[in-house]
Amino acid sequence: MRSITFFGLLFFSIVLNAQKFDGLAKTPPMGWNSWNKFACNVDEKMIREMADAMVSSGMKEVGYEYIVIDDCWQVSRDENGNIVPDPIRFSSGMKALADYIHSKGLKFGLYSCAGSKTCEGRPGGRGHEYQDAKMYASWGIDYLKYDFCNTDAQKAEGAYKTMRDALYAAKRPIVFSICEWGSTEPWTWAKNVGHLWRTTSDIMNCWDCKVNWGGIGWTLIMDKNEPLGKYAGPGGWNDPDMLQVGNGVLTDVESRSHFTMWSMMAAPLILGNDIRSMTPAIKEILTNKEIIALNQDTLGKQGYRWWTLDGNIELWLKPLANNEIALCFFNRSEVVKTIDFDWNRYFSHLNGKTYGVTDKTNIRDLWLKKNIGSTKNNLKATIQPHDVLTIRLGK
Ligand code: GLA
Repeated sequence: MRSITFFGLLFFSIVLNAQKFDGLAKTPPMGWNSWNKFACNVDEKMIREMADAMVSSGMKEVGYEYIVIDDCWQVSRDENGNIVPDPIRFSSGMKALADYIHSKGLKFGLYSCAGSKTCEGRPGGRGHEYQDAKMYASWGIDYLKYDFCNTDAQKAEGAYKTMRDALYAAKRPIVFSICEWGSTEPWTWAKNVGHLWRTTSDIMNCWDCKVNWGGIGWTLIMDKNEPLGKYAGPGGWNDPDMLQVGNGVLTDVESRSHFTMWSMMAAPLILGNDIRSMTPAIKEILTNKEIIALNQDTLGKQGYRWWTLDGNIELWLKPLANNEIALCFFNRSEVVKTIDFDWNRYFSHLNGKTYGVTDKTNIRDLWLKKNIGSTKNNLKATIQPHDVLTIRLGK
């Protein structure tokens, strides 16, 4: 009898600990991460400046919240196995940096890796999960991106569950960002493990390029992420990687499309540019409240490619709360296209789902930021190559 009670208690304590923090990331996380622009060139001065810029640029006000340092902040472990931040680049320590970021009303994130070393060869978390989680909690970390390099025979699901349990045991609510590049289909197992999971290899700073180690441009990333919509929702998001908007290669039009498609796909909006020095056009793209509202919509549905019109115009649909929807016409071609969209014809294919659309529903263009008529007549428009027409249908 005594042993049954003991094993019963053990069982319940394991089950009770086997969970992620609930109530976090109810809408896709928004923030900034150092990797896409700075790679290993990170230090506390720059991170503080990013926090300052987040506030002064108005980005905090439209919802960006997390400041995340990616790889290379860590250099070694001390004699007790504690992770050691770079003493030169982060001479004030991570607690002081967290305090600074929190004083701005923002949240702080760090990167580590499930393997013995990070992708850049810094100390990884393997075998130190509980110790690291406690350290992160003591510093005041709010978000952990956890990579999957140098993992040998480790199994991703088990490795991420160990870190999840370690974070839970450390008792500080931390958003857990899984980054194994979609290799083990985390969308099938990660809902109770993390709050977001990468679905693809790394995003490159281009429209559709491919590099030999697997990195791909944003339109190709989008194609891989698109079919996974049914796995995403409040508290657990498909993550098609961080934004490349503002990193100097994409045109303003392509940047606008990239930002729109990430919003339509309910993807985490993690900026990857230098937010201290943005052109007015890039700043306007990244702070468009009406596009961000699609991303942050409380229904939490990932938009999908509903139709391909006339060759290369993709029509995407995102259901929204309160029986509204967003549609995005995306001209992926190299030539100017026109549309003449007959509402009855297309909506008759939605199996009775009208999303509140009648023959007089209001249409709002979210980039022009104005109402452009109603569904009474066909929607006629001209769309430039690589550009989007993004509309919201509602009251
Ligand atoms: C991997 C990840 C990237 C970045 C680097 C850092 O490639 O997918 O997002 O974190 O590691 O080394």
